[in-house]
Amino acid sequence: MLDRSHNAAPLPPEIARRRTFAIISHPDAGKTTLTEKFLLYGGAIQMAGQVRAKGEARRTRSDFMQMEKDRGISVSASAMSFDFGGYRFNLVDTPGHSDFSEDTYRTLTAVDAAVMVIDGAKGVESQTQKLFEVCRLRDLPILTFCNKMDRESRDTFDIIDEIQENLAIDVTPASWPIGVGRDFLGCYDMLNDRLELMDRADRNKVAESVRLQGLDDPKMEEHVPAHLLEKLREEVEMARELLPAFDAQGLLDGVLTPIWFGSAINSFGVRELMDGIGRFGPQPQPQKASPRQIAPEEEKVAGFVFKVQANMDPKHRDRVAFVRLASGHFKRGMKLTHVRTKKPMAITNPVLFLASDRELAEEAWAGDIMGIPNHGQLRIGDTLTEGEALRVQGIPSFAPELLQNCRAGDPMKAKHLDKALMQFAEEGAAKVFKPMLGAGFIVGVVGALQFEVLASRIELEYGLPVRFEPSQFTSARWMHGPKDKIEAFAQVNKGHMARDNDGDLVFLTRLQWDIDRVERDWPELTLTATKEMM
Ligand code: G4P
Repeated sequence: MLDRSHNAAPLPPEIARRRTFAIISHPDAGKTTLTEKFLLYGGAIQMAGQVRAKGEARRTRSDFMQMEKDRGISVSASAMSFDFGGYRFNLVDTPGHSDFSEDTYRTLTAVDAAVMVIDGAKGVESQTQKLFEVCRLRDLPILTFCNKMDRESRDTFDIIDEIQENLAIDVTPASWPIGVGRDFLGCYDMLNDRLELMDRADRNKVAESVRLQGLDDPKMEEHVPAHLLEKLREEVEMARELLPAFDAQGLLDGVLTPIWFGSAINSFGVRELMDGIGRFGPQPQPQKASPRQIAPEEEKVAGFVFKVQANMDPKHRDRVAFVRLASGHFKRGMKLTHVRTKKPMAITNPVLFLASDRELAEEAWAGDIMGIPNHGQLRIGDTLTEGEALRVQGIPSFAPELLQNCRAGDPMKAKHLDKALMQFAEEGAAKVFKPMLGAGFIVGVVGALQFEVLASRIELEYGLPVRFEPSQFTSARWMHGPKDKIEAFAQVNKGHMARDNDGDLVFLTRLQWDIDRVERDWPELTLTATKEMM
């Protein structure tokens, strides 16, 4: 558990105003639409529709691949920064498809909070549940947005009950919807005692806001028809009796989630949510590291790589390492130590991801996400500091659940395959194993769609058609124990042994029985399904 008590001491104002978060949701719940409205209010884009812009315009933003356009899925996580209400928001985009859970997991190590978007008609769906569990592992504070209230949606108490039961978290209403479906008028803002009225005529118009003095305020009657008003008063009274009251500490501890009701497409409820993230969301948090944790207010800069993306810009064959600054005030041109190799690195062209374009970062503060173009030196899990040998912890690499053999379609080009696969391994897009016996590679992924993504990217970026074929193996385990024992084991199990892209030995398995056998016959050795990335 991280020590958050330091938050009692005020952070430098530039750090204190940062809110770094991700959106978690099931596909189709409205994440893209909500992101777009965030950016619209944040002044990062001029009009709605830009995030979804087609063709070239879209390639420079969060989505850049042919496949993403074809399938409408977001393969790669990216980060966007914008200002609202005096706060600097850093929104880290998580890939929505369930096949990319490992990437998503790592993205969630770089944020301090998550916004959970659910569809008011569908409630908590499978992908939301999975992502929520990942947030729970880190006790991430969660703010909930119940979207699509302009459509027929479920009873408000039902939605809240479902979240409480399925996700085992307390829910407190920050707003309360008035009417459903076609009758949906807007919300009563329970935190600020205001009436928020949705404008159906203009989707980009910010809701009309009426200041109230309690639910009995006569102004209510001017705006809300009698039957809806009666229901609202009853429900709010019940909610106040039955549901937990808002408690800022509960939110920060990850045990209570405030819920806002709204309609992203109608720009409704979004501003209140942003306000909530700003006012109640966590400031940049300390980062677990060895041999000591890193506090954001430390003067010296430290940061870690949580994602590497290659060829973001088709014109430049570069890689961008996404770095979360854990502490300090970074200035362009600074020399940082790359802790893994102990080498200095001058960070001369860092990039901030302003939604409209990439922009050169002159400075950044703890909490910010910065892109560092490089030629492959920076890997996931790497720490950069001003000299101290700190290593950020908790960024795991998972054992792949699916393994396939990979061959070049054109045997003449086989040696380029090596380079392409290594690049994807370093990006964290796949695990690549070189078997001790025989030629070729075994590629491991967490979800089946990743094979298609890889094949498409290798062809697109390296002009190299490849084939994936079934492998006899189903999983891989990293080995730990005395060096001589591991080597002795490898000698007698050559047919099962391979090295990952860091050169570490892995044991390839077919059945759980293989793992049980090692545990029984080689008690000095341990097999693990994750490896801490360093
Ligand atoms: P995602 O990123 O979570 O997958 O969801 P996305 O924002 O793409 O939204 C999924 C669909 O839901 C889109 O419709 C979008 O317009 C719609 N939507 C988002 N917010 C609301 C809302 O508040 N109310 C209603 N009624 N619909 C909403 P689509 O038909 O798939 O796409 P499009 O043709 O509208 O772009």
